[in-house]
Amino acid sequence: MQKLTGKTALVTGGNSGIGLATARLFIEHGARVAITGRDPETLRQAQELLGGDALALQSDAGSIEDIERALAAVRERFGRLDVLVANAAVAQPTPFEQVSEQQFDEINAINYKGVFFTIQKALPLLEPGASVIVTTSISNAAGAPHFSVYAAGKAALRSLVRSLALELIGRGIRVNAVSPGPIDTPGFGRWGLPAEAVQAIRDEFVRKSPAGRFGHADEVAQVALFLASADASYVVGAEIVVDGGFSLPL
Ligand SMILES: NC(=O)c1ccc[n+]([C@@H]2O[C@H](COP(=O)([O-])OP(=O)(O)OC[C@H]3O[C@@H](n4cnc5c(N)ncnc54)[C@H](OP(=O)(O)O)[C@@H]3O)[C@@H](O)[C@H]2O)c1
Repeated sequence: MQKLTGKTALVTGGNSGIGLATARLFIEHGARVAITGRDPETLRQAQELLGGDALALQSDAGSIEDIERALAAVRERFGRLDVLVANAAVAQPTPFEQVSEQQFDEINAINYKGVFFTIQKALPLLEPGASVIVTTSISNAAGAPHFSVYAAGKAALRSLVRSLALELIGRGIRVNAVSPGPIDTPGFGRWGLPAEAVQAIRDEFVRKSPAGRFGHADEVAQVALFLASADASYVVGAEIVVDGGFSLPL
């Protein structure tokens, strides 16, 4: 059964990994979907994969001007939004003492400020019954060495989801979070580390994982679909962890 028939959705960071899998699944379930990203090539590939009815928008989640432009394009194409997935984020593993002010500002502009203002600017398009889903991370509770800026930003998002859930439920808008553990996406290749170092970290993740493997982007997308759909009509301010049990022993 299709769960999003006649619905419209915007997925930020929808040109890769979890965002792309989510956009694809939403379309399979009958939604009209817009995605954002920065990279023109992966946006083009995503557009091809998602089909002509999808709207692929080049938009920097760290720029309020870009966010407003993307939402204006969504308004023009769809007229309203039923589902917003605030998913775009960057991770740049860096030892604490080496984090520069510029890096701190850049990561927070995309991962925290960008999400905050994407939701705020999307509000006029969100009608009663709408669902906002924020992609957090299990690092928001567990912490993660070399990810101090990223993990703290995700913790801020967890808090934001609680506040907005309370503030917006009166308008019929549900706000929830999906919190992935290690998921196999192109994101790992963007860490700026040598391939062997990334592989060593990935091997360690698998060794520590109760499920004994990485998760797939589709497994996170299925949870986003649940939160987006009427199946989650009484789910408000929740964070659903999708990590194969990774965070349980912590
Ligand atoms: N994979 C995991 O293990 C894992 C674990 C916990 C949480 N997460 C979270 O899951 C979400 C998706 O990550 P992923 O693993 O799917 O990584 P990914 O494949 O690297 O996807 C990240 C997406 O975000 C977009 N993005 C990054 N900065 C952006 C910006 N300034 N403006 C617009 N788009 C931007 C990227 O597009 P461009 O390259 O075009 O900018 C890309 O589409 C993120 O919030 C991440 O923190 C992932």
